[in-house]
Amino acid sequence: MGAGVLGFDPGLLQAIADRIGTPSYVYSANLIRAQYNALADALHGIRHRICYSVKANGNLGVLRVLKQLGAGADIVSVGELRRVLMARFDPDGIVFSGVGKTAAEIAEAIRAGVGFINVESTSELDTLTGVANDLKTPARIGIRVNPDVAIESHLYMKTGEKTAKFGIPFDEVVAVATRIAAEPRLLLRGLAMHIGSQIADVTPYHRGTIKLLELVTAIRASGITTLEALDVGGGLGVRYHNEKAPSPKAFAEAVVPAVSAAGLGLLCEPGRYLVANAGVLLTRVLYRKHAGGKEYVIVDAGMSDFVRPSHYNAHHEIIPLRDGKRAEETVNVVGPICETGDFLALDRKLVSVGPGEVLAVLGTGAYGFVMASTYNQRPRAPEVVVDGDRYYVARQRETLDDLVRGETAEPTTWYKA
Ligand code: LLP
Repeated sequence: MGAGVLGFDPGLLQAIADRIGTPSYVYSANLIRAQYNALADALHGIRHRICYSVKANGNLGVLRVLKQLGAGADIVSVGELRRVLMARFDPDGIVFSGVGKTAAEIAEAIRAGVGFINVESTSELDTLTGVANDLKTPARIGIRVNPDVAIESHLYMKTGEKTAKFGIPFDEVVAVATRIAAEPRLLLRGLAMHIGSQIADVTPYHRGTIKLLELVTAIRASGITTLEALDVGGGLGVRYHNEKAPSPKAFAEAVVPAVSAAGLGLLCEPGRYLVANAGVLLTRVLYRKHAGGKEYVIVDAGMSDFVRPSHYNAHHEIIPLRDGKRAEETVNVVGPICETGDFLALDRKLVSVGPGEVLAVLGTGAYGFVMASTYNQRPRAPEVVVDGDRYYVARQRETLDDLVRGETAEPTTWYKA
């Protein structure tokens, strides 16, 4: 079989499972490149930068591939800033969003010369202004706008509607821009939106971009001439199972004309689109069991390794690496964790698999390892990068010692208020 493990050589995956062990995440550099290049081609008609959303997969090996392609980065914390600087991304191409950036994080971003620190509230703007003045250093900023545009997606993945916690409400943006322009140390370079994730239909991108343009016109009319770019966010959906995934071309057609008309550059922040289907999670079958009429396949990866099925009820294809015709059955693929919600698939049709064989869980390159935990004291899986016919371990498997680092069984220092 293996034909289903799109873009991966099943023999190589089996070799990785045997050498590195399971569970393990495996990422294909070539599949990431193909996605990036398809989007870059679609956007070729406009000055643009694809700012990879690091939260989707922050592995340094993955960042290395994207940096070599010329990507910028979308970050949401100093931890992500540190990673992209380690991977030598150009600070000018870094966009820093997030509703809860601390003063310390803002200071570090200003010092690093981050291209766009996106303010998400007037209260944050107070902090940003104070930090830039204290540091006596200019801050290059954007406004993250809440464009009040609805999308079709999972409830947890909608971010651009009026009541969301993200961005500055549409009707307050011009006033905020005016405030920024009045601050000598702040430079307003752009407007940004991010309307949500796993978006199948590009129409909301078009609507949102038009709304950003209305703001550009109003901001320019108030005498502010510093705007350079519109950031239309991430969120491009992918095909995990039978979903519709928008083509890069459709995305480009939805956003480019309006941004071009305003004479601005275009930024976008895809995460999932670039890496989701470039990653698989390898897991080994431990046991088989039946209970109450249900067939169980118990594997060595659980919700601590990959939480999307439990958290979003997400469907991820599961494919055995071993070839050969076998009967199909309906099974629950579950992990070793002591929670009923610990599953990779429920009531899934799968060819009959047995203990010892390796399964590939597909579409796990985005929001896989980065959302892993050590629940039940399970060390986190290693991450492997495949490039052509070679691979390397880009992150070692966590050890049991790692799990107790910083803890002590006997108190060493007691404090009193
Ligand atoms: N830009 C901003 C400001 C974001 O908040 C996000 C994702 C992105 C870009 C990238 O979105 P993408 O292109 O990957 O859809 N953990 C969830 C998804 C939550 C995404 C949060 N923000 C999942 O497993 O599907």
